[in-house]
Amino acid sequence: MAKSKTSFFCNNCGAEYSKWMGKCSSCGEWNTISEEIITIESTPKWENESKVRKAKKPQPVQELSHQKEDRINLLDNELNRVLGGGMVKGSLVLVGGEPGIGKSTLLLQVALKASSLRILYVSGEESEQQIRMRAERIGIVNKQCYILNETRTDKIFTQLANLKIDLLIIDSIQTLQTAKIDSTAGSVSQIRESAGELQRFAKESHTPVFIVGHITKDGSIAGPKILEHMVDTVLQFEGDRNYGYRILRSHKNRFGSTAELGIYEMLNNGMREVNNPSEILISQRDEASSGVAIAATMEGGRPLLIEVQALASSAVYGTPQRSAIGFDTRRLNMLLAVLEKKSGFKLGTKDVFLNIAGGIKVDDPAIDLAVICAILSSNYDIPIPEKVCFAAEIGLTGEVRSINHAEQRIREAEKLGFEKIYLSKFSLKGISKEGFSIEIIDHSRLEQLFKSLFGRN
Ligand code: TYD
Ligand code: MG
Repeated sequence: MAKSKTSFFCNNCGAEYSKWMGKCSSCGEWNTISEEIITIESTPKWENESKVRKAKKPQPVQELSHQKEDRINLLDNELNRVLGGGMVKGSLVLVGGEPGIGKSTLLLQVALKASSLRILYVSGEESEQQIRMRAERIGIVNKQCYILNETRTDKIFTQLANLKIDLLIIDSIQTLQTAKIDSTAGSVSQIRESAGELQRFAKESHTPVFIVGHITKDGSIAGPKILEHMVDTVLQFEGDRNYGYRILRSHKNRFGSTAELGIYEMLNNGMREVNNPSEILISQRDEASSGVAIAATMEGGRPLLIEVQALASSAVYGTPQRSAIGFDTRRLNMLLAVLEKKSGFKLGTKDVFLNIAGGIKVDDPAIDLAVICAILSSNYDIPIPEKVCFAAEIGLTGEVRSINHAEQRIREAEKLGFEKIYLSKFSLKGISKEGFSIEIIDHSRLEQLFKSLFGRN
């Protein structure tokens, strides 16, 4: 016997309430609580199970059996790396991203590429015809890739019982509906229950599952936060839609580092893996122009050379404008204050605009020096020579601070044909300048650095 009841859920964090409230006391959001009908099986959850499963006893950690996790190679270097070296069997991976960013394209492409695996791609969003058209656009033929247009979880599991598969892709969790709960697809209780069923399927059958999840306006994965707790890995697909580049970041990974990142380029025939991102992030120029500086940054475990563009112009309004794309505006303000103190840059009379090329967001502090040099270069109208790059954090007193992975950054710059790299004196501990063909210029104070770069301070 099943009985029906309703409950109130916060659409933002998934907290459950017995009555409606204007503000969720768990996450503090207003107007996010809505009523949902849920049907609950009246037999207690554990009753049947206890007959089948024996109670487990605690064991010392040393005696637990352990195996190295079994990983599947997805034949996509970027995705494999972000997952920590391939997809772990039985793991649940949530792929989030704004609509139209390319989640379905990426996962269908993965399904088509992995010809040695039997894959089921379940779509509740697009018709079979649309998926076929997309597959034709991607242009890979794979007979082992099955498509199912279904939203009811019980029907999906019936198909899965007949079809022995190596990987399941669900596009998207917001379209799934389980018979156990009456509320509409996409509601908190539906998402939670469907994800729970998928989790059980993944763990019991050791089949890895990709789940696509939509994103809300504020950038979190739509539906409850609880979804993020249930899965093993949360990947976020992001990028500026006006640029072709897409970045796959890992926000949580039970089987690998969250520092890794994958870069793709959206082409007419699917996603291209970008194995050498530095080359595309530095724009091609005929001659050096003022206001441009190259920063040697690290994204995850990978060195990345990116272009910082700045424009400093006379302010026309009383309050000078500050605007930064891809960089923290508060940090920009701080760097401008340091500049004023150390180089006589008249902060109050200048508008400053900053742009990180390629639509990329950077939070590596090593970009500071390139930001400062780009601003000064624009202000003095003195171009920085083309084959020069920077990697240092700037302190409030104008000191050039050391950064981590200095050697890797120098090697990457050298590989890309740069001739000079400006670093902090303190980054060079244990690194000999003789070992590199690139010239390493180290300073500890901004004033010295400006003198050597622009001939003035
Ligand atoms: P899609 O994968 O449907 O996004 P999501 O599933 O995240 O909502 O991507 C849709 C966009 O990608 C759409 O604007 C068309 C574009 N696209 C390409 O540029 N090249 C391609 O090969 C494909 C299949 C799509
Ligand atoms: Mg889609």
